Amino acid sequence: MKRVFSGVQPTGNIHIGNYLGALKQFVELQNENDCLYCIVDMHSITVQQDPATLRKNILDVAALYLAVGLDPKKSIVFVQSDVSGHAELSWVLTCAAYTGELSRMTQFKQKSKGRESAPAGLFNYPVLMAADILLYDTDIVPVGNDQKQHIELTRDLAIRVNNKYGETFVVPDGRFLKSGARIMALDDPTSKMSKSAENVHSRISLLDTPQKIKKSIMKATTDSDGVVRFDLENKPGISNLLNIYSAFSGKEVSEIEKAYEGHGYGDFKKDLVEIAVGAIAPIQERFQEIRESQELLEILKDGAERANAISEATMKRVKERFGLGY
Ligand code: AMP
Ligand code: TRP
Repeated sequence: MKRVFSGVQPTGNIHIGNYLGALKQFVELQNENDCLYCIVDMHSITVQQDPATLRKNILDVAALYLAVGLDPKKSIVFVQSDVSGHAELSWVLTCAAYTGELSRMTQFKQKSKGRESAPAGLFNYPVLMAADILLYDTDIVPVGNDQKQHIELTRDLAIRVNNKYGETFVVPDGRFLKSGARIMALDDPTSKMSKSAENVHSRISLLDTPQKIKKSIMKATTDSDGVVRFDLENKPGISNLLNIYSAFSGKEVSEIEKAYEGHGYGDFKKDLVEIAVGAIAPIQERFQEIRESQELLEILKDGAERANAISEATMKRVKERFGLGY
């Protein structure tokens, strides 16, 4: 059995990019692997959060994890700040990381753009992520494409520590899906779909109403040539919609192109609305039920205990290797 770890930030507006790039893989992996899925609340405070909203969002993501199909009997579902090993290991890894490599992270560069000085948490964000992963001897990290550079850094840190202090960490691999790994914004297919974009029609959130989903898809940017064909360079809008269609339906893009030969974008979009709403509606039904249940808190408490047990064993090893304590 392989160890799988991944996390999602509790920052609201979980969208189909998060679902098709990450959450869908989480569910697929849980049957044959030993999985931990985390709600990374400490990552989310690298950008200032309203405390009450953050608390609500933590439980929303936990409920969404279960609603998309994570089974607490198979997977450990927990909140990052419930396990102190994340912060502890993060400090140790900070001492193994270089400011040069951290300054090269594209996410940091984007988030700190135009500022003379940025929050140090934003700079250290990828080190905390490496700690999340290495704390559990993780083999596989299912994520979207945007996390590739962070996974590379995690591997570099693990290898560096292993070379300097002796075998300490498992070196993990990222796992990226073909059609869901990079879902683009519906209003601008050159930037990725994001939780924080101002235009609500740039994304489809998992908690959107069917009317909203329909409106967002029907408004989605395409092109004027009217042919349903995948061509990322010249037809980024329709290519993004084809990716979404493929990821939701499980059909190959070539198969979908063929089915819409001689049809316009209108027909294609209408069908996509049906497919997306059909996939999202049952998730929402389960979400409401789980979100209001007392069981959710028990699942998180149990998850934290199980995660803690694994994390303590790793921290003991790390402290020994580094000579910490006495
Ligand atoms: P975040 O919301 O930043 O915590 O991201 C949670 C997960 O969703 C990570 O695995 C991301 O790589 C993935 N993800 C975020 N945005 C997208 C997107 N537009 N397309 C595909 N995957 C995404
Ligand atoms: N940085 C990831 C994102 O924004 C979230 C994350 C934090 C994560 N820790 C992780 C993902 C560990 C995978 C493994 O999407």
